[in-house]
Amino acid sequence: MDAGRLNQTLSEMAARAMREALGLESPNPELRPATDARFGDYQINGVLPLAKELKENPRKLAEKVVAALDTGGICLAPEIAGPGFINLRLDPAWVATALGAAAADARLGVAPVGDPQSIVIDFSSPNVAKRMHVGHLRSTVIGDALVRTLKFLGHTVVGDNHLGDWGTQFGILIWAWKRERDEAALAADPIGELERLYKLGTERGKADPEVAEACRQELAKLQAGDAENKALWERFVAISKEAAATVYERLEVEFDAWHGESFYHDRLHGVVEGLLERALAVETQGAIGIFFDEPGLPETPYLIRKSDGAFLYATSDIATVEYRLEAYGADRIIYVVDVRQSDHFRQLFATIRKMGYDVKMEHVGFGMMLGADGRPFKTRDGGTVRLDSLLDEAEARILPLVTERWPDASEEEQRAIARKVGSGAVKYADLAQNLTTDYKFDWDKLLAADGNTGPYLQYTLVRCASVFREHVARFGAEFAVDGSPLRLEADEEKELAFFLVRLGDTLERVGEQLRPHILCEYLYALARKFNAFYAKCSILGADDEATRRSRLTLVQATYRTFEIGLSCLNIPRVSRM
Ligand code: ARG
Repeated sequence: MDAGRLNQTLSEMAARAMREALGLESPNPELRPATDARFGDYQINGVLPLAKELKENPRKLAEKVVAALDTGGICLAPEIAGPGFINLRLDPAWVATALGAAAADARLGVAPVGDPQSIVIDFSSPNVAKRMHVGHLRSTVIGDALVRTLKFLGHTVVGDNHLGDWGTQFGILIWAWKRERDEAALAADPIGELERLYKLGTERGKADPEVAEACRQELAKLQAGDAENKALWERFVAISKEAAATVYERLEVEFDAWHGESFYHDRLHGVVEGLLERALAVETQGAIGIFFDEPGLPETPYLIRKSDGAFLYATSDIATVEYRLEAYGADRIIYVVDVRQSDHFRQLFATIRKMGYDVKMEHVGFGMMLGADGRPFKTRDGGTVRLDSLLDEAEARILPLVTERWPDASEEEQRAIARKVGSGAVKYADLAQNLTTDYKFDWDKLLAADGNTGPYLQYTLVRCASVFREHVARFGAEFAVDGSPLRLEADEEKELAFFLVRLGDTLERVGEQLRPHILCEYLYALARKFNAFYAKCSILGADDEATRRSRLTLVQATYRTFEIGLSCLNIPRVSRM
C-alpha cells in the first residue's frame, strides 16, 4: 500500500469493492477529494452513473459497495449520502500513525511510481540572436517545475531546450554581420550586438528588395554548406547559448538536452518524402501541406514545405517527435509554449496521430505577463523587459529589507539572500497563476511577506528550521524523528496532519493536469495551517515530552513537505529570513 498517494490507493480499493460486490470487470469509482470537509475527506461518485446504466436503485448499489469496501484501516466506516454518494473520512488514528512514520522518510512516504513513463518536456526554447526577456520566463519556470515534479514522482524525464537555432533569420543576421558589425559592441555585449544586427537587417530587408534578396542568398549559402557562413552560424548559436546560460544559472534551471531545431535538419527531407509517399501530405499551390477534417482544427493546411523548397517550423517539429520516439521511447511529450501557438500544436498532434504513432502529446499553453496596469509588460520607453533586469530589480527591492534585518551579516551574505528571495518571488508569482490566462505582474503583491507569495513560503520553511535550532539550544541535542504515531489533540494539529497526508495526491495531480499552481495552492494552504498551529500550540514548551515529540514531528513533516514542494517548483531555500 502506498500511503503517500491516498487518492490512488483508495481508488484502487473502491474499484476492488465494486468489482466484487457488483461483478463488474473494470468499474470506475470516480473517487475524488471531498469538495466540502463536512462530507469527509474523499467521496466515491461512481455509483450513481452506474445505477443509471444498470437501471438499479443507487442507494442499494452503494450499500453493496460499502459492505465490500475494505480500506485497511485508512478510513472510518463509509457513509452513504444523498442518492448514492459514498463519503470517506480518514481515520485519525491512521493519519497519526502513517504521518508519524512518513516524517522519518525523506520523501514523506511518497514512493516513486511503480510504472514509470518516459516523458519529454520541451520548454524555454528561445530563438537565437534574441536576448531572454520576460516572455521567456513563463515557459522556463513552468517547464522546469513540471520536469522536477514528474522526476520526483519517479518518471524518466528529459527536459529539452528546443532552441530556435535554424531558419530564415540567419540569412538576415549573416548579411548584417558582414556589413554592419561593431567589434567594440560585440566584445562588450555579444548578444546585444546580435540583437541589434538582426533588427537592422530586418528593417533594411523590408525597405530594400535587393537587401532582402542578398539575405536570402546568404541563407542559401549557409544551407548549401558554405564554410564561412557555417562558421558564422556556429558563432551566433554559441553567443546566444552563452547569454541564455547566464540567465538559466540565475534561475537555477538545468536541461537534460539542448537539441535545437538545427539538430533535426538532416531529417526534414525524409519527413516530407515519407508523408508524401503515404499520401498523408499533398501538394497545395506549389507547396506541400497536410489537411485535416477533424473538428476544432484550422482549415488551412499544415505546411511542411514551401514552394521554394524550404522546410518549416512544422517540418522540424514532426522530425523532432520522431527523434524523441526513437531516442527516448517517449510515452508522453509535453510542450510548454505560449498559448498563441496552440493551432500549430493541434495540427502537429493530429499529424502524429495520422502517422500512426502512439504517444500522448500535450501543449501546456500559457498566457501573457502583463504590467500592473493590465497592458503588456514593457519598460518605461516601451521596450521588452530583459529577464536579467527583472531579476536585478527583484533583488534590489529586497536588499534593503535584508540589510535592515541583519545589519551584522556580511554584504555578500545579504546579497545572496536577496538574490534567492528575489528570484523565488518572481518565479513563484508566475507558477501560482492559473496557466492559460494572462496575469498581472505586480511588484508589491509578489514580494509581500504574507499572502500567496514565494517569500511567505520561504519564510515558513525558515520558521520550521528555527524550531529545530531552538531545540538544540534548549535541549542540547538535535531532534530526531523516531517514526512513532502522533498525538493529534488540538484542532490545529489535526487540520495540519490531515492536510500533510495530501502531498502525494497533490503532486500526482500536478503531474496529470500539468498545472504547477495546484502545488502552489497546496503549499500556501499548508503554510497557513502550519502558522495557525504554531500560533496556537506550544511546541518546545509543551506540557509533556510525548506531546512535545509529537509536535516536533509535525514540524518535521511540514518542513519535509516544504522541502519537497519548493524543490519541485524550484523555489530556492534560504537559511534565514
Ligand atoms: N523557439 C520557439 C519560439 O520562440 C518555441 C519552440 C517551442 N518548441 C517547439 N518544439 N516548437 O517561439
